[in-house]
Amino acid sequence: MAAANRTYDIVVWGASGYTGRLTAEYLLERYGVGGEIRWAIGGRNRAKLEAVRKKIAVEAGVDASALPIVLGDSNDPASLRELAEQTRVVCTTVGPYAKFGSGLVAACAKAGSDYCDLAGEVHWMRAMLDAHQQAAVASGARIVHCAGFDCIPSDLGVYFVQRAMRERCGVPAKRVKLRVVGFSGAASGGTIASMETMIEATLRDPEVRRAMADPYALNPAGQRGPDRGDRITPEWDPDFEQWTAPFIMASLNGKVVRRSNALLDHAYGEDFRYDEATLTGSGPIGAAKAAAIAAGLGGLLAGMAIRPLRRAVVRRLPQPGHGPTREQRNNGFFDLRLFAAHPTEPEKNLRARIRGDRDPGYGSTSKMLGESAVCLAKDALDVGGGFFTPASAMGDALLARLPVNAGVTFELEDG
Ligand SMILES: NC(=O)c1ccc[n+]([C@@H]2O[C@H](COP(=O)([O-])OP(=O)(O)OC[C@H]3O[C@@H](n4cnc5c(N)ncnc54)[C@H](OP(=O)(O)O)[C@@H]3O)[C@@H](O)[C@H]2O)c1
Repeated sequence: MAAANRTYDIVVWGASGYTGRLTAEYLLERYGVGGEIRWAIGGRNRAKLEAVRKKIAVEAGVDASALPIVLGDSNDPASLRELAEQTRVVCTTVGPYAKFGSGLVAACAKAGSDYCDLAGEVHWMRAMLDAHQQAAVASGARIVHCAGFDCIPSDLGVYFVQRAMRERCGVPAKRVKLRVVGFSGAASGGTIASMETMIEATLRDPEVRRAMADPYALNPAGQRGPDRGDRITPEWDPDFEQWTAPFIMASLNGKVVRRSNALLDHAYGEDFRYDEATLTGSGPIGAAKAAAIAAGLGGLLAGMAIRPLRRAVVRRLPQPGHGPTREQRNNGFFDLRLFAAHPTEPEKNLRARIRGDRDPGYGSTSKMLGESAVCLAKDALDVGGGFFTPASAMGDALLARLPVNAGVTFELEDG
């Protein structure tokens, strides 16, 4: 069936899970049922999905009784084919993706259905890209991984500041730095399960370790650049005049930003450099904080490599289906800064700020993922089929949507 004639614009797949339910709640609150977006919730358990439909109706204060339910199972390829053929976009939170996600990517690539997810498993995304890029190009399916806090603020933030640099100066910034000022939030059981899956794959498979360590692991073959491995030590940052510590998501975000540059025909330049870190302050306390965070992260990674210790820690953390409370989500936030260096004239350097009005991992992520799905379904995007990043598939359109609908803002500091 041609993508234009499908029953639904969007199916939220995994709506019985923690983040899927929040994404469905966001779409219900923002777009209702039977309005401009024809959407449905999906998963493997009808009773759970009916309970979700009731719950989100109460939370959003909107009647959801007419919201359709689509059933299927990640282990049943025929049901995934049927799912993909019914909708223009599949928006999936069924994770860990490396465990449950491969069949759905294959089905969407074949059926010409657009797809967005919250994957963070680099080795799995690389495998999907290598296996299904040709099918997606042939069918017109636009496959977009990482459409949540990882990696939209980083990826679209760089796109935003590079667009501003080009408009003002006619050239791209030669280097962009993202710095975390602060955030408040906690992790869900699904995120913890995905991290555990990734740690296990990294310990088991040298190819996965190689992909994790390679800053260009997601780039098209042979397209590399000047960035080296991710930072693990505290450093003084002269552009922010503060000490900085490693940021836990820097490795994934950086790979996605570099892939965007490659897919945008090196709009940021072939020698473009990018890195992320956490700001910790300027004096001796800032230096001590940076050293403590760096040591803490190193210790955490080393500890998680020990199986009995990892199992003991994971057992004490939230289990699949659970995550931060509504109050934690609503009181959460994130606050990030960008520094973009003009290639030759430092007085033309740019600074920008990215903020989110909910906790990054779930309150904000569910809105970013929901808007990505709507953007794929409704906006005129200038790309055909294939595997994209958020910025390379939806750049300007998503930058227009997020501040208005999703509480995520991108601002130049000099206005
Ligand atoms: N990158 C980011 O910014 C970000 C943020 C948040 C979450 N995430 C990722 O999103 C994913 C979901 O997290 P979560 O906390 O929402 O997880 P969760 O609560 O455990 O939800 C997982 C969902 O997958 C479904 N599922 C499991 N096996 C299935 C199968 N065989 N067929 C169909 N559905 C199946 C579950 O259905 P049942 O209810 O029937 O078990 C549930 O709906 C994780 O991979 C997490 O890492 C990423």
